[in-house]
Amino acid sequence: MKIKRILKWSTCAILVVLILAFLVGFVAYWRSTNECDRNTGTPANPMKAIVHCEYGTPDVLKLEDVEKPVPNDNQLLVRVRAASVNPLDLTIRGPWLIRPILGMRKPKDTRLGVDYAGIVEAVGKNPAAGGQFKPGDEVFGGKNGALADYVCVLADRSVALKPANMTFEQAAAVPVAAITALQGLRDKGKIQPGQKVLINGASGGVGTFAVQIAKSFGTEVTGVCSTRNLDMVRSIGADHVIDYTKEDFTKTDQRYDLIFDLVGNHSFSERRRILNPNGICVMAGIGGAGWHDGIGMRLLGELNAYVASRFVHEKFITYIARLNKADLIILGDLMQTGKVTPVIDRRYKLSEVPAALRYLEEGHARGKVVITVERDNKT
Ligand SMILES: NC(=O)c1ccc[n+]([C@@H]2O[C@H](COP(=O)([O-])OP(=O)(O)OC[C@H]3O[C@@H](n4cnc5c(N)ncnc54)[C@H](OP(=O)(O)O)[C@@H]3O)[C@@H](O)[C@H]2O)c1
Repeated sequence: MKIKRILKWSTCAILVVLILAFLVGFVAYWRSTNECDRNTGTPANPMKAIVHCEYGTPDVLKLEDVEKPVPNDNQLLVRVRAASVNPLDLTIRGPWLIRPILGMRKPKDTRLGVDYAGIVEAVGKNPAAGGQFKPGDEVFGGKNGALADYVCVLADRSVALKPANMTFEQAAAVPVAAITALQGLRDKGKIQPGQKVLINGASGGVGTFAVQIAKSFGTEVTGVCSTRNLDMVRSIGADHVIDYTKEDFTKTDQRYDLIFDLVGNHSFSERRRILNPNGICVMAGIGGAGWHDGIGMRLLGELNAYVASRFVHEKFITYIARLNKADLIILGDLMQTGKVTPVIDRRYKLSEVPAALRYLEEGHARGKVVITVERDNKT
């Protein structure tokens, strides 16, 4: 009797929670709005920026006039000379899993892009801001809405001086991709000199940085890529390359101390088999490169690997990279000393961002896809 009553009340409670969740979701969905619904006037001090009012394919992106930002006391106004795109920007499609964060019906943030490199045009009044930077300084960093003529950035956050030997395009290729590689290998993978490291997805935006950063730590690097990229991955320092169209890297006799996986197309047991005892697999790829139907299954596979690895000696770790000034400075030094050189695949103008994202969606970029903002301004 007692069990029956408990079951009855639990069912009722679950039903109430489900109905409430549905109602909250319904209200959140219809209340979800963004500045496109509010802004009707023409900007007083306009600049060009990539804007998306709706979720959808890259076709929803428009190059529009928006208000030029004004820096507060702690900010720098940076004139963007180059930017770059990342798989992160493909969230314009509005995957349902993250809509509670992005906005249920429409994107809360209508601006796009993170990586930029440019010239400081104005510095906030706070001495802390002015102490580090002055107008005319060439900088690079990460800031939401970077696909624009200007960004305002907090001087003490993710912004650093651009190495003199790097172009704006090269520097703009760095922030998200190189920090993902650095934090994955150093902080999550605990990379050590002399280790054997395998990088799956070595030819992409993150992978080309990962190969060079892993080499800078004095490791023996194996890069996994397709036939057309073998020479490029070798040329940036990989000691060995595996052509994934001809050979399955999980079926060889090689063992690795660290796997840096940007693709996530192998199971927990397949990857564990090629790890040395106590080895680490850093699952950096969130669903693998490009936009494809298998993203959900890959994410589930990585979740499964994470849980399964709790019961074995080998570690399977996932993470979200965090942009910060200290790591930008480290990457700046690596570029200054020639240990890391960004690999740039294609260049697009600001007005061509939809085409750039369509290319990224294919999942076969060779290094980074860069947006040149300056050229647009001249035209
Ligand atoms: N954890 C984080 O914080 C974080 C941060 C940034 C990015 N990511 C994730 O990391 C992944 C890679 O990002 P990315 O910027 O490097 O993307 P990307 O530049 O679009 O990567 C494209 C590369 O992936 C390669 N690739 C595709 N299928 C492959 C396969 N089966 N085996 C090996 N390589 C394959 C392609 O080589 P081929 O043309 O030769 O096939 C291409 O060079 C994405 O899933 C992204 O979401 C995670």
